[in-house]
Amino acid sequence: MASFLDRRLMPIWLALAAGLVAVGLGIVMGEASAEKANLAARWTARAALPFFLIAYSASSLLRLWPNDVTRAFMRRRRQWGLGFALAHTIHLIALGTNLLVFQDFRPDVTLLGGGLAYGLIYLMALTSNNWSMRKLGKNWKRLHTIGIHYTWLIFAISYAGRLGDKDMFLTGAIFTPILLGALGIKLYVRFKPLTAAQGAG
Ligand code: HEM
Repeated sequence: MASFLDRRLMPIWLALAAGLVAVGLGIVMGEASAEKANLAARWTARAALPFFLIAYSASSLLRLWPNDVTRAFMRRRRQWGLGFALAHTIHLIALGTNLLVFQDFRPDVTLLGGGLAYGLIYLMALTSNNWSMRKLGKNWKRLHTIGIHYTWLIFAISYAGRLGDKDMFLTGAIFTPILLGALGIKLYVRFKPLTAAQGAG
């Protein structure tokens, strides 16, 4: 298992497969074309979420539960992040189809909030290499901390918003706690005292 997770390009191929399966499911399950495109947008966002969560939580999971799996997540965190960017690009294509082909317009606040998230996601993807890390120095960390938390926020708002919709309540009730849990783990690890083995004292 850990050796599979440690394969360098595995997260990227997996993300491509997950995004394409999500689009395929939308096409098969929807009835009219507009519904197919809407389901494809919905499920591509869902397919991208696990890749985001692994990249977001890898360091915290390793601190809490050091084992072969969490070490492999941490070693390949960059690839999980790039996998997320790829899967979310498929969401962008699906929602672009909704907007441009089916005129399924979204409120300005969604376009602005989601658009800014895409800007940050692509800046993070473009700077996910050693050269950019060296060049940007402390700003690299700032960009990635702001970018990943802002992306978390858009996911959390999208799913929490579903709690108020009786048809989508279950989706919100499943994914909102998962996102809050990921944030909770991050905050716990950030503020818990270091043990002696981790360099306290
Ligand atoms: C301009 C940018 C964006 C637009 C126009 C947009 C549009 C859409 C559309 C049309 C859907 C399907 C709606 C439905 O289920 O009825 C959707 C679902 C979703 N989008 Fe986006 N999106 C954008 C960016 C983003 C970003 C950046 C994120 C996350 C960081 C995101 C996360 C989600 C989530 C979580 C869902 C619901 C998936 C589910 O039900 O499991 N979206 N979006």
